[in-house]
Amino acid sequence: MRVMQFDSYGGPEVLVAADVALPQPGPGQVRIRAEAISVGYAQTQMRRDVFPAPMWRPVFPVVLGGDVVGRITGVGDDVTGVCVGDRVGAFTLYGAYAEEVVVDAATLVPVPESLDAAEAAVLPGTGLIAGGVLRTALLRKGDAVLVHAAAGGIGHLAVQLAKAAGASLVVATAGSASKRDFALSLGADVAVDYTRADWAAEVRSATGGRGVDVVLESIGGDVVEQGLDLLAPGGRLVFFGSSAAELAVPTVPLMKLIGLRYVTGFALSAWRGGRPDEYREVLDELTSRLLDGRLRSSVHARLPLTAAARAHELVESRAHPGRVVLVPGLD
Ligand SMILES: NC(=O)c1ccc[n+]([C@@H]2O[C@H](COP(=O)([O-])OP(=O)(O)OC[C@H]3O[C@@H](n4cnc5c(N)ncnc54)[C@H](OP(=O)(O)O)[C@@H]3O)[C@@H](O)[C@H]2O)c1
Repeated sequence: MRVMQFDSYGGPEVLVAADVALPQPGPGQVRIRAEAISVGYAQTQMRRDVFPAPMWRPVFPVVLGGDVVGRITGVGDDVTGVCVGDRVGAFTLYGAYAEEVVVDAATLVPVPESLDAAEAAVLPGTGLIAGGVLRTALLRKGDAVLVHAAAGGIGHLAVQLAKAAGASLVVATAGSASKRDFALSLGADVAVDYTRADWAAEVRSATGGRGVDVVLESIGGDVVEQGLDLLAPGGRLVFFGSSAAELAVPTVPLMKLIGLRYVTGFALSAWRGGRPDEYREVLDELTSRLLDGRLRSSVHARLPLTAAARAHELVESRAHPGRVVLVPGLD
């Protein structure tokens, strides 16, 4: 089968096609034939070797991971509840840029037949992260929420889910006018250019000077401390990524927490294992909202699997709103 892999770190061009043996599912695993593979920003960081979680450094040759939606083509021993032909999704750290991928059956999510594969490719990871960070932030009705990178894969879903959960004010940040317009079109109340030096003052002014109750932080650098300063008493900042890989992941200035501010982190795997009931609730909500159109999963580009390098160029250009998706059927 065809995979897109790399055996040295570098630019998008290191991603090249290779033919490898079909992987066989072991105990507790299934194999999925991919209909759609969503390309996240973190994978471009892994390819450049600037991913902020060094414990997940890959072993060459690397086939990157991501959200996959497709059909089960093989079932290993000790797997119950799914069978060959089922339409499912999985979020993998590695192995997804491929026609077929082996994943742990325990991480599978069901994908309704009526959903478009590229749009449904938010279900296994991207959407769960958006919903999971909002749950972790203990979002309450009436809260003011700051969503960074609000036109991004996770951000554009977080904007919609925050509004749906009753946020009274969603402030979206994004680096270009078209992305800010996109965030507003999804329900954000205010859109701010966080590349401007005075962006935090603009956010504070949008809250009438009070500050925000929740910050969804995935940028890193100075933006973290500025976000912390923006928290109203009782406010919560959830750290779940560090897209500004050129900057060090900041530490938490503890003195700032004395103002009754809370900081926590989020990783999908930790949340799925630690709060399984919440995980299932969010998955059900996402599925239902996608099915009846209350959640818009925006696909900026659908590219063949063999165009993985182009997909990385697009994601790194930061020009696109929504997601870039690989569709092996287009090859
Ligand atoms: N915790 C978890 O379980 C988990 C899992 C997957 C991903 N993540 C993290 O979630 C975050 C969002 O992922 P995504 O795939 O949805 O990405 P994305 O938001 O589609 O893309 C990242 C965005 O970050 C913004 N950004 C701001 N400063 C940047 C900088 N210095 N360099 C690059 N980008 C910058 C850019 O938007 P603007 O152009 O608008 O500035 C860029 O488009 C990433 O940090 C990722 O690592 C976390």
